[in-house]
Amino acid sequence: MAAAYNRRMSMPDLFENDTPRGREALGPDAAILRGHALPCLPDLLPALRQVLQAAPFRTVFTPGGHAMSVKLSGCGALGWISDAQGYRYSPVRPDTGTPWPTMPDCFKALAARAAREVGFPAFEPDACLINRYVPGSRMGLHQDRDERDFSAPIVSVSLGLPAVFLFGGQARSAPALRYPLFHGDVVVWGGADRLRFHGVLPVKHGRHSVMGPQRINLTFRKAR
Ligand code: SIN
Ligand code: FE2
Repeated sequence: MAAAYNRRMSMPDLFENDTPRGREALGPDAAILRGHALPCLPDLLPALRQVLQAAPFRTVFTPGGHAMSVKLSGCGALGWISDAQGYRYSPVRPDTGTPWPTMPDCFKALAARAAREVGFPAFEPDACLINRYVPGSRMGLHQDRDERDFSAPIVSVSLGLPAVFLFGGQARSAPALRYPLFHGDVVVWGGADRLRFHGVLPVKHGRHSVMGPQRINLTFRKAR
């Protein structure tokens, strides 16, 4: 991680606000909470830096053997992994065989608060997947369905460079709407929207004033 990025990560600007606040409904049980993470970034960014020092980003391969364009890390009791054996959650890191870093309290509090705002009052994530997008990285349309219980929502926090989020239907073939996501935005989808297909278009070149030339996405799940 670049020194400039570390310096910025340790001095988050509470008043940095490149998004308007507010809420956009994506479905009956899904919404974008604009700027919802901004007030907690002074705690969250140093905690994220510590997690990434303990568990650096790594390249992950799909079961078909293709390298994903995003790099992955994670924290919490369980981490999402992918290899020739398939997609699944594991209590240990594939690179070291040791547990994932503990999920920081401010991560849990942010995820629970965002879920509550969208109508999920008791969200207790046990997995936080951390995706790093550099310019050109993308995430193809997929469903989050490796979790045991779909009654808990997914909570997704965007940091750094903007991206276009695709939010589709219950079938891959359904048309997907495009929503720009900015630093500090939080997306929640659960209930009737829990299995909607979603993805991210290739991230455009740029340099974010706090995060540098990258987008980091935190995805909170209840895996078990
Ligand atoms: C994901 O679906 O895992 C990531 C979504 C995002 O990066 O916004
Ligand atoms: Fe996903």
